[in-house]
Amino acid sequence: MILDEKYLKEKKSWFREYLRQFGSLDKDVQAAFSLKAQHSLRVCDLAEELAPFIFSDSQDVILAAYIGLIHDIGRFEQYHTYGSFADRDTVDHAWLAQQVLSRLKVLQDFDSNTIDLINFAILNHNRYSIENHSDPRFIIFAQFLRDVDKIDIFYFVHIHYQQDAIGQGKKVVLDLPDLPRINPAVMAAIMEERQVAIKDLRTLNDFKLLQIGWVYDINFVVALKVIHEKKYLDTIFRVLPDTAAVRDICKKINHDITVRLDETKP
Ligand SMILES: [Fe+2]
Repeated sequence: MILDEKYLKEKKSWFREYLRQFGSLDKDVQAAFSLKAQHSLRVCDLAEELAPFIFSDSQDVILAAYIGLIHDIGRFEQYHTYGSFADRDTVDHAWLAQQVLSRLKVLQDFDSNTIDLINFAILNHNRYSIENHSDPRFIIFAQFLRDVDKIDIFYFVHIHYQQDAIGQGKKVVLDLPDLPRINPAVMAAIMEERQVAIKDLRTLNDFKLLQIGWVYDINFVVALKVIHEKKYLDTIFRVLPDTAAVRDICKKINHDITVRLDETKP
């Protein structure tokens, strides 16, 4: 099997075909499916664009893009079954992705090592951190998927929060109330460059800060560069309360990003 442009195009068609069964007359349900479908396709394209900076083999570039396409395939069955994307109330959607891929024999053309690698990357895109693995290839693919997934979520929330700022957005994120408070535990995590724990989220502001804290979990400088150049974080900071504590975090984050980007300048 040759992993090339043609292969990826065929897989995108297969993906669109797979999604047809989840059509719904309900507008909200349709919007939920479309959200994840668009995310999957954007992650695939973004992965194809950025992967050449990480992988020297063109087949690895296509593989990384393909993993991007299918990484959230569990989302559709999850929403279909439970009417929700909240993993903590339903099912780990990355685990469910593996079940779907295995049940539909989607990966049967790959050798067993590559199947393991694909499953490893998918499972680990939805974890607090990547589990250990003796094969560095497994880790790199998992790291790369996490980065492109985060970039696309930044892209999405950047648009969403901009709409929010002009009063057009919906304010429902993980059922968190949009109150002018920030949990000190969330602040502390970011100042210590730790990932914010889901259990510490109390308000929508906490969630925005959780997303900002992802910059400390970005693995590849090329991904950080995209986040920086597109000014995704600026938009999130703009929709946070203008307090001394938030300004401190903003200063620290911008400083740390600049340092990391400067360090790797040729
Ligand atoms: Fe996901």
